[in-house]
Amino acid sequence: MSTAEPTIQVNPDDIAGMADAVPILCRLQDEDPVHWSPDGKAWMITRYDDVRAGFHDRRLGVSRPMPPAELFEPEFRDTYRAYASSLKTWMVIAEPPDHPRLRKLANRGLTPTAIEGLRPQIAELVDDLLAAMPDTGDVDFVKAFAYPLPASVIALLIGVPKSVLKDLHRWSDDIAKGLGAAGEDIIRPPAYAAAEMTAYLTEFIAERRKNPQDAIIDLLIAARDDDDTVTTEELIGNLILFLFAGHETTMNLLSNGLRTLIRHPEQMADLRRNLDDPEVVAGAVEEILRYDGALFMLTRFAAEDFEWHGRRISKGQKVYLYCLAANHDVRKFDDPGRFDIRRTDSKQHLAFGYGPHFCLGGPLARLEMEVALPPLLRRYAALSLPAGDVPWRNNMTLRGQPSMQLRLSKGVRT
Ligand code: HEM
Repeated sequence: MSTAEPTIQVNPDDIAGMADAVPILCRLQDEDPVHWSPDGKAWMITRYDDVRAGFHDRRLGVSRPMPPAELFEPEFRDTYRAYASSLKTWMVIAEPPDHPRLRKLANRGLTPTAIEGLRPQIAELVDDLLAAMPDTGDVDFVKAFAYPLPASVIALLIGVPKSVLKDLHRWSDDIAKGLGAAGEDIIRPPAYAAAEMTAYLTEFIAERRKNPQDAIIDLLIAARDDDDTVTTEELIGNLILFLFAGHETTMNLLSNGLRTLIRHPEQMADLRRNLDDPEVVAGAVEEILRYDGALFMLTRFAAEDFEWHGRRISKGQKVYLYCLAANHDVRKFDDPGRFDIRRTDSKQHLAFGYGPHFCLGGPLARLEMEVALPPLLRRYAALSLPAGDVPWRNNMTLRGQPSMQLRLSKGVRT
């Protein structure tokens, strides 16, 4: 174990908007695997084994300190307090015993059968979005497809009508600003969005209790009312979490994935030849998750002082677990920089995290991508990326482009 000064300095903020942060993160793996960034005031963990261990290390907590309401202007304080108390119900930042209690409830709604049951409706959404796209020409793929699809799927999941979609989009955008978005007000937009969404869901759930239907929301309400260990406020908080956790992540997965396929024509050709083979499609999705994931890292807080690779982590410090770096660790994956949809080990990626907070929506995100890719590639025999790259979103956690120009053609395959 070395305690020598690091030969490299990396600030998480600087790599946030980078199209390819992987080489820098891989240098950290080699030179300083538990790296302290004085500017970012956080530890950066990059090796596969360490990131995976970090995900189920009880010394690394998920709950985070919130500033006192008195720090804000008086007219915002009530909204802020309500937001802080809603955040406390989110399982992703809840500690035991709350976390397993909340997760158990969610598991009763998001069962494999219920998720698989969404397949025909997702296929219909995909068809509608593709039908609205032009046959040829340039299109912003994020705006036309990658952004609306996951939001509509979350609407299906929560069971709200299509008329609420516009609001869902706005709430999702504003809530995402609370997560690592550099240079933006990270409190007010999510707090106001959470307040609006809570008000909407409170009424919606009351109505659904009177007139239950056959959707995942009804399973969740029934499960809650059944054993009464989770409050309706906690249920609402976690429905807001579903929107937040499942929208921009899946949007990034769709656009990152398509861009990567276009940039690897031999892999694209292999996939195109096998669109009827669910195993090949699923393999491509898994490799996209590994190679070009939707997230840089997940945040933890040290619950006590401890040593890691000779570095002294102090209680309360932030620790960033870089799943993107882990998925490119040469100690784990053979030739990790090679994008190969036939890899047999891609499934060991950490794109959905690991341990107690392992992504609850992984099967849904995979399903969306698996349903979307074949009709999309069938509709467009040739896809290309016009010259000139769009800047990446400047966000330390979410990894993707806010827009992605795509040249569509029904002509010769590329
Ligand atoms: C490509 C898409 C997605 C990616 C990359 C992703 C990634 C992740 C990751 C890494 C975590 C672990 C967080 C941590 O350990 O701090 C997580 C948790 C979670 N995800 Fe996803 N996610 C995706 C889609 C979804 C979808 C569609 C949903 C919809 C319900 C969802 C719901 C959740 C929930 C509820 C948690 C918290 C689980 C817990 O704390 O026990 N995710 N996700």
